[in-house]
Amino acid sequence: MITLETTIGGRHFDNCMMNAAGIRCQTNKDLDALVASKAGAYVTKSATPHKRAGNPAPRMHELHLGSINSMGLPNNGLDYYLNYVVEDEQKRPDSTNFLSVAGTSLEDNLAMLHQVQDSNFNGFVELNLSCPNVPGKPQVGYDFDRVNTVLNEVFQFFTKPLGVKLPPYFDLVHFDQIAEILNQYPLTFVNTINSIGNGLVVDPETEKVVIKPKGGFGGIGGISVKPTALANVRGLALRLKPEISIVGTGGILNGQDAFEHILCGASMVQIGTQFGYEGTRVFDRVSQELTEIMAHKGYETIDDFRGKLKTFDD
Ligand code: SIN
Repeated sequence: MITLETTIGGRHFDNCMMNAAGIRCQTNKDLDALVASKAGAYVTKSATPHKRAGNPAPRMHELHLGSINSMGLPNNGLDYYLNYVVEDEQKRPDSTNFLSVAGTSLEDNLAMLHQVQDSNFNGFVELNLSCPNVPGKPQVGYDFDRVNTVLNEVFQFFTKPLGVKLPPYFDLVHFDQIAEILNQYPLTFVNTINSIGNGLVVDPETEKVVIKPKGGFGGIGGISVKPTALANVRGLALRLKPEISIVGTGGILNGQDAFEHILCGASMVQIGTQFGYEGTRVFDRVSQELTEIMAHKGYETIDDFRGKLKTFDD
């Protein structure tokens, strides 16, 4: 009997697939559709303390191999998402879901996490340290001292399960440095990767960029980021203490992509760009495809192959 169930921080999930923050998770209607889907959990759109319109349009553009976006954190504000997840927990007390927060300052993040700490919310918080799209606000995840300061401040008072969403890293030394910091804290999970920040897509016909914010610079997602995502899942899985689970995000279009993320060490996988294109049916399709791969290989659970990637040195 093949199962796609998974466990993170002692919480059980029937399916190891879910949406990635930002994609079809901004409204109650979006979140209701995720609840009704085959996804094992949902994550809410990254919240700021108050409702935010985000960047001017066009702010997202479909590419042959993915997408470029500079949404700029449009969201309905923390109260909206906190109300949703708390009410959902009252209806479904055995489910665990993810509340994403993305303050544009340390003060905002601390204030939001105090509010979450004081609330009845019992699920996971995903602290987004990697949004590349807020003009004038660099990605915290690239400033290692700042990551350390943020986590140090947060864990002075925050006792609920918390993970961080990281930007992609491109150097093995950076994997070492970020892992050394993360390992000092009681994190439940690390989500890797956010989009590859500040790419540029050019339309040769019009000789123009394809999105308006930041002069056309935006985060790249979709299939073209998969090798970077796998490297980050693998690089962190090899370096983080075992109590910190890995959520793998980036370039998942089908069951094989999910299989590769898990092989590199992911306990849960998030689907972003492709979920945007396909809707909740993507979770049925990718679940079916992953199940078929597992059947072919004789695996019954994702733990049978999670993190067991081979190299030429094995
Ligand atoms: C955005 O709203 O700009 C995307 C959020 C993110 O990349 O973290």
